[in-house]
Amino acid sequence: MPPQIRLHQILDWDSPQQNAHLRQELAAGLLQPQAHIAPKFFYDKLGSRLFAAITELPEYYPTRTEAAIFAEHLPAIRQALGEDFTLIDLGCGSCGKAGNFFHAGVLPSRYVAIDISVDFMRDSLQQLKRELPPIEMIGIGADFTHELDLPDDLASERRMFFYPGSSIGNFSPQDAGKFLQRLADNMDASGGLLIGVDLIKDHALLEAAYDDSLGVTAAFNRNLLRHVNARLDADFDIGDWQHVAFYNAGETRIEMYLEARRAVSASWPDAAGRSVRRFAAGERIHTENSYKYSPERFTALLASAGFANIQLWTDPRGWFALFFARPPQQEFKRPL
Ligand code: AVJ
Repeated sequence: MPPQIRLHQILDWDSPQQNAHLRQELAAGLLQPQAHIAPKFFYDKLGSRLFAAITELPEYYPTRTEAAIFAEHLPAIRQALGEDFTLIDLGCGSCGKAGNFFHAGVLPSRYVAIDISVDFMRDSLQQLKRELPPIEMIGIGADFTHELDLPDDLASERRMFFYPGSSIGNFSPQDAGKFLQRLADNMDASGGLLIGVDLIKDHALLEAAYDDSLGVTAAFNRNLLRHVNARLDADFDIGDWQHVAFYNAGETRIEMYLEARRAVSASWPDAAGRSVRRFAAGERIHTENSYKYSPERFTALLASAGFANIQLWTDPRGWFALFFARPPQQEFKRPL
């Protein structure tokens, strides 16, 4: 018998309606003068596995550094979270970070795993439930960056939102502020937010993390085209495209692109017949921004989003930061 988890599938990428919507979004992005594909399309099943492989690369310091911060500051983190809370994991992926937490003895009464990659999340959550049967576990397949729709019976729990891994870096600072504000609006004064943030550092270290010597990040990036071909019935020849990643110091972000090795075109069916997009040699499709912060700037962002009592832990080299923030004492604003 599979372990007992509850699964709410708000997002089913393969339902005809959502698939039509996603196809439209992909086509529109590809037809822009600066073609782009949103980072959420990285995470098909293979993409989620490639990301899990990235986190094990020597060059990709964020996951490892964040884990070290957790280990080092566990008592303080435990104290910040308190007892009897619901841990809401935003983008749980392999649920590995939450799993480490639980195995270290930080135990929520309930664990709510939200991820866009529904199949991958379900498998990971079932595995975790096998390891930790006493914790109630709920999986939600959803794009939480669009809507945060939690089941009704979670409304009265102490909500601790868990957003590790620096995924907040995919938002522009302005959109990150709005997203943080929505989180603040979705908790009462007993709730909190535990969030991992990648910090500004030496440019060579940053660039190596996004262009590793084994080429796993390149495969992760190029896998987008495999996903696009499948979803859009497009005919991208993946061999024509190379991975490009660099640090934009002015914007304090890593930018990732797929660059055409030669003049190419790609096409896919549309209502009128076929859409064709031509790319010149060297032309790029933008695939990801990953913003980096100073501790001061992220603290200010949390404060302007309505959080108070902001705590911060970092590693000895100051590469990564873990923040814990609470809303100020206030009325419960918007029950879900
Ligand atoms: C999952 C968004 C945190 O920005 O570091 C890793 C994604 N892209 N390597 C990041 C990613 C290329 C990752 N986040």
